Amino acid sequence: MLQLNNIHKIFEAGTINENHVLKGLNLKVEKGDFISIIGGNGAGKSTLMNVISGNLTPDLGDIQLNGQDITKAKIIERSKYISRVFQDPKMGTAARLTIEENLAIAHKRGQKRGLDWGVKEHHKEQYIKALEELDLGLEQRLKTDTQFLSGGQRQALTLLMATLVRPEILLLDEHTAALDPKTSEMVMRLTDKLVQKQQLTTIMITHNMEHAIKYGNRLVMLHQGQVAADIKKDQAKPLTVKKLMELFQKSSGQELISDDVILGS
Ligand SMILES: Nc1ncnc2c1ncn2[C@@H]1O[C@H](COP(=O)(O)OP(=O)(O)O)[C@@H](O)[C@H]1O
Ligand SMILES: [Mg+2]
Repeated sequence: MLQLNNIHKIFEAGTINENHVLKGLNLKVEKGDFISIIGGNGAGKSTLMNVISGNLTPDLGDIQLNGQDITKAKIIERSKYISRVFQDPKMGTAARLTIEENLAIAHKRGQKRGLDWGVKEHHKEQYIKALEELDLGLEQRLKTDTQFLSGGQRQALTLLMATLVRPEILLLDEHTAALDPKTSEMVMRLTDKLVQKQQLTTIMITHNMEHAIKYGNRLVMLHQGQVAADIKKDQAKPLTVKKLMELFQKSSGQELISDDVILGS
């Protein structure tokens, strides 16, 4: 469904700060795949997402979506079929707008925006139903500004907004990393629920190896701008954090260092 062929990205080319981040990366994503991506800091994970979303254009290589070349398609064009959730819960919702207003904006993803973010009465029921699925009581707070929500509630709402209009591809860039462990688990369970329900093709970057093992049907390890390992979970023996650390060390010659890796399993 989504294919990245020989993607190169070089920042500040030709200067002393030249940084060749993506080095001939190849990735083939099948419809319905839920891929967890891990890799050390600076491996190029976010750059990869930026290239998929159109925030960055690759210097070499091409991106195909359903057989169409989208390498040069604009961000706004891609936002019709690609949704993205970032690490910072503040980025996903407009703080001074209410929950229902935020949902109304999300409802128009991919359409011309204009200034009309008013909430249509006949859409409200859909919003309430969607919020009920979060199980956070937010359906009782339609008129609350999102600035008054906790980080976890905001990230849950952001996920709902990203999937309210079904995206062809959902990109999650360490979307639980800024949350406390318990909230992070809650948001991950919710993520899985939303992904399964709509059978969304999903690419998730995570620092949490247990999440990478537990969620998704594929685990991709990125190292120095290339795919160092691509594990199809149903064809592999059950993974453990220890095995994953070893595999990373073997394929990269480096240790995977991460603060929130939970050792001992
Ligand atoms: N827009 C940019 N301009 C210049 N350098 C960048 C830009 N985005 C990322 N980089 C650099 O590319 C490298 C990889 O970054 P990134 O993809 O964010 O890594 P990761 O998400 O795997 O930690 C880093 O050295 C980073 O400084
Ligand atoms: Mg990153």
